[in-house]
Amino acid sequence: MPALELNNLTRRFGDFVAVNNVSLQIKQGSIYGFLGPNGSGKSTTIRMLCGLLEPTSGSGKVLGLDIAKDSEALKQKIGYMSQKFSLYDDLSVIENLRFYGGLYSLSSEQMQKRIGEMLMLSGLEKRQQELVANLSGGWKQRLALACSILHNPPILFLDEPTGGVDPVSRRMFWEIIYDLSLQGTTVMVTTHFMDEAEHCDEIGFIFEGNLIASDTPDNLKKIIPGTLVEIPTSSPMELLESFEQQAIEYLDIYPSGANLHVLLKSDNISHLSGYAYEIIKPSLEDVFVYLVKSYRRELVS
Ligand SMILES: Nc1ncnc2c1ncn2[C@@H]1O[C@H](COP(=O)(O)OP(=O)(O)OP(=O)(O)O)[C@@H](O)[C@H]1O
Ligand SMILES: [Mg+2]
Repeated sequence: MPALELNNLTRRFGDFVAVNNVSLQIKQGSIYGFLGPNGSGKSTTIRMLCGLLEPTSGSGKVLGLDIAKDSEALKQKIGYMSQKFSLYDDLSVIENLRFYGGLYSLSSEQMQKRIGEMLMLSGLEKRQQELVANLSGGWKQRLALACSILHNPPILFLDEPTGGVDPVSRRMFWEIIYDLSLQGTTVMVTTHFMDEAEHCDEIGFIFEGNLIASDTPDNLKKIIPGTLVEIPTSSPMELLESFEQQAIEYLDIYPSGANLHVLLKSDNISHLSGYAYEIIKPSLEDVFVYLVKSYRRELVS
């Protein structure tokens, strides 16, 4: 049985469709990355999966529980770290953990055991008496994670857990996620960072409420047809304009950092002989550019 299964899950706000017919499955113990631009429906989807928001139509099961009918039971079973996670600044680390332990109705024995484990997992043992207000963003995030898994949930929903923290803290946070996954916890995580996405077992890409792809990072990279070429340039836009005026057969052309990326229809690269080009393997960023343009039918045909 998958840990999570959605069938045509839809959420409207008035006439606006925030999540449109999303269907997907997540395997037990895997890490599923949920990607998409701002406002594409990630948080709305996650809130439905946590039993916090009712779907307009469609259905979903998490750990075998119906997300609409069994939402109360679901809330107790899952772990959820919201985009604006809520810690109490004027309480210490350990007081925050005790507060969350109380919310999950842990016995005092369980509470003590799990708080000890969570302090170790998050590396916060030496800081347990510190006020949360005095912790850096990275430590706060690890504490928020610890609070959300005190009750040992088999599935964990993380909504942009690493936004606004430094790279070292991000890496430490991900080490914890891998550990949890190795121990069998299923993780669904939203992120804007492509390097984080690369390390997920599967990735779903949501755009304007539609799940436009869902697969392993390797398989997603295989969907780009033709040959992808990178040309270093100090002025990608100027080079792009000059390409548009030439009779070169390409499917797409777009700036990527200090480079121009050209997706050629075939492996015939003779037109590019005057440029310092390199044939490259697509990154996930290239995949998402391709997916969005295919979805909008903006590719040259
Ligand atoms: N309660 C609400 N009422 C009306 N519109 C809403 C509500 N909640 C979300 N929306 C709209 O639904 C769309 C999807 O929002 P959502 O928060 O799910 O996006 P997101 O992908 O999480 O974005 P971000 O990356 O910025 O967190 C947005 O256009 C948002 O304004
Ligand atoms: Mg969001």
